Amino acid sequence: MTAKTMDELVALCKRRGFIFQSNEIYGGLQGLYDYGPLGTELKNNLKQSWWSSMVYERDDIEGLDAAILTSPEVLKQSGHEDTFSDPMVDCKSCGERFRVDQVPDYCKEEDLTEPRQFNLMFKTTMGPIDDGSSFAYLRPETAQQIFVNFKNVLDSTPHHLPFGIAQIGKAFRNEITPRNFIFRVREFEQMELEFFVKEGSDEEWHKTWTDLRIQWWIDQGVSKENMEILYVPDDELAHYSKATVDIMYKFPHGLEELEGIANRTDFDLGSHTKDQENIKIHSNVMRNKNSNSRLAIQNNETKKWEIPFVIEPSAGVDRGVLAILNESYKKEKLDNGKERIVLAFEPHLAPIKAAVIPLKRNNDDLVQKALALKSTLQQQKLGRVIFENTGNIGKSYRKHDEIGTPLCITIDFETLDDKSVTIRDRDTMKQNRMKLDDIPAYFRNYIEAKKL
Ligand code: GAP
Repeated sequence: MTAKTMDELVALCKRRGFIFQSNEIYGGLQGLYDYGPLGTELKNNLKQSWWSSMVYERDDIEGLDAAILTSPEVLKQSGHEDTFSDPMVDCKSCGERFRVDQVPDYCKEEDLTEPRQFNLMFKTTMGPIDDGSSFAYLRPETAQQIFVNFKNVLDSTPHHLPFGIAQIGKAFRNEITPRNFIFRVREFEQMELEFFVKEGSDEEWHKTWTDLRIQWWIDQGVSKENMEILYVPDDELAHYSKATVDIMYKFPHGLEELEGIANRTDFDLGSHTKDQENIKIHSNVMRNKNSNSRLAIQNNETKKWEIPFVIEPSAGVDRGVLAILNESYKKEKLDNGKERIVLAFEPHLAPIKAAVIPLKRNNDDLVQKALALKSTLQQQKLGRVIFENTGNIGKSYRKHDEIGTPLCITIDFETLDDKSVTIRDRDTMKQNRMKLDDIPAYFRNYIEAKKL
């Protein structure tokens, strides 16, 4: 069972320290959220899992971490200055502004203004003089900095086509109507891969990456039944795309895009390259007089410069976190008639991997044993392990169910006699007695093998 409502998730996220409204003590800023202690761990684990699958587990992808502030020249050539906008209307009755496709039912047609285009990019001043002439954009997607670094990466690594460049980082969009918690926000993170391929192999690679990305989400614990594939209709494609497949997910508020996989053709490298007139470019690109780099690869046989095509799987980190929270959320009836809430995260995503709990608070012998075990488990570097000194085991178990800790290990008075501990499994609630010395290996296997 997934979360019933977004409100249940929002409440749990605040109560347990996953996600907070940003700038809350001054009334909040719309469309911005802050990740708390557990949300930060969850988000980092999700990003790490993506990075590992892209960069570490393959030999044809390199990583990049480029600047957020972006030259207007880049976003002019990419088409964002001209086309990265949403049509918006104002409601004369309630005084609010909406995206045309998101006008709420309570606004009457006759109260709406004619639609106007609204560019979604944020600008900021660069340098000491604020006269409007020197500014930079906060990037609206991480992709553009991958394209403009294409030659740098190619020249400094041993790759030939096909190969990719992966990046995780912040992106900013001045959304007209941010909503649905962290689903549509103004500051968010993307995990983007630009995979460069030979023209002609692009359609096959598009299919390959779509399949790989669906499987990756399944590996993160997103059930197949809650995902759908949408082939974006031609008249809704972004200006750079020949074909886009959206992985749609059943969020608590409805079926919406989790990740897009686009065939960006040679549009981006063709837009940013110098020497455009001497290279065959299939896409309709703006004339470029300012680039000083040829973003093309020389064909060994024909000696002609060719611009690679690009397949781009682009996932939102925040939407990923929301989907994972929704998938993991379970409300279960217990034998004693009470209820428990569990976040049944895959172990690699769990913010806390294990809690070590002394049965009696402030009992020196128990506390020392618990601290020593915490330290041993932490040294395995499998993620965060905490020492929990509340003295209330039942309450600790409930809390750790609710924040998704897979294992709780209790140190009690028997531990002092026979060096055994109780280990409790979040999902089954089963408690087993195990030798203290066996715990590190059990813990490692549990986290690494996901499930024993
Ligand atoms: N580089 C391609 C690109 O940016 P996009 O479909 O506009 O394509 C990719 O964005 C992903 O980024 C989306 O699938 C979504 O997960 C995430 N995303 C886009 N806008 C967002 C927003 N305002 N808030 C949260 N996530 C967003």
